[in-house]
Amino acid sequence: MRISKRLKTLAEQVQPGRVVVDVGTDHAYLPIYLILKGISPRVIGVEINPGPLRSAQQQVEVVGLTHQIEIRFGDGLGGIQPGEAQVAVVAGMGGNTICDLLEASPKVLARLHRLILQPMGAMRRVREWLWQHGWQIVHEDLVKEDQIFYSIIIAEPSRQEKEKGAADRYKSSTSGEKFSEVELEIGPLLLRAQHPLLSEYLHGQIAHKEKITAQLQQSHDPAAVAKLKEYTGQIKELKGLVFSLERKQKLE
Ligand SMILES: C[S@@+](CC[C@H](N)C(=O)[O-])C[C@H]1O[C@@H](n2cnc3c(N)ncnc32)[C@H](O)[C@@H]1O
Repeated sequence: MRISKRLKTLAEQVQPGRVVVDVGTDHAYLPIYLILKGISPRVIGVEINPGPLRSAQQQVEVVGLTHQIEIRFGDGLGGIQPGEAQVAVVAGMGGNTICDLLEASPKVLARLHRLILQPMGAMRRVREWLWQHGWQIVHEDLVKEDQIFYSIIIAEPSRQEKEKGAADRYKSSTSGEKFSEVELEIGPLLLRAQHPLLSEYLHGQIAHKEKITAQLQQSHDPAAVAKLKEYTGQIKELKGLVFSLERKQKLE
């Protein structure tokens, strides 16, 4: 079965033998891949919208996997009972939506061993939410597909005391201080690992923010002026990150 590079990268983060819940499963591509590859013994796909729900159920029937994949109607993690799955995948949704749906189901969350998240934006909020709720980011990845970058965040329950443990782990490797907003948006582990796509990703982020600042410069509205100042600072910091990353890569 062929699936997108993005979904394949998510599937690779599932430890073999784990029961998975795929929240917002859409066509059920990920559950089908996890079963066909023998990664998971059972997958629950949760869908809130009737169209994707029907589509997911049909796909699972077509491939004859109804005994291993259950497609359910449900809202986020509310679609399963605590302990039914050990790993949750939440991909292709906004970062704020992901945080809201994690927050809405504390009992299910408490029984999960791993979260595999692929937010479409609001990455900083997701990373902050995770530490503040006792989750440790154990791995981050970046995938480029059809000219779009996707950030992937893998988290596991923090073994240390909740916020203290998380906060310690999230000190910047360069300054030893708390990570900056820009570092949190980009991904501390991606920065630390000097991910091969990072330089290109950072250049893209700079170009995007420069486009916004060009628009903000046209406005005298105080909110726009404040935003312009914030973005200008972020661009400067991003350029600094690119500079040190590319310098390190040249030296290696
Ligand atoms: C953009 S698709 C992503 C599909 C798939 N996860 C992927 O990454 O390719 C988002 C899916 O999540 C579903 N969805 C959105 N909010 C949801 C919620 N609260 N609970 C369950 N499903 C939800 C949508 O109906 C849609 O099918």
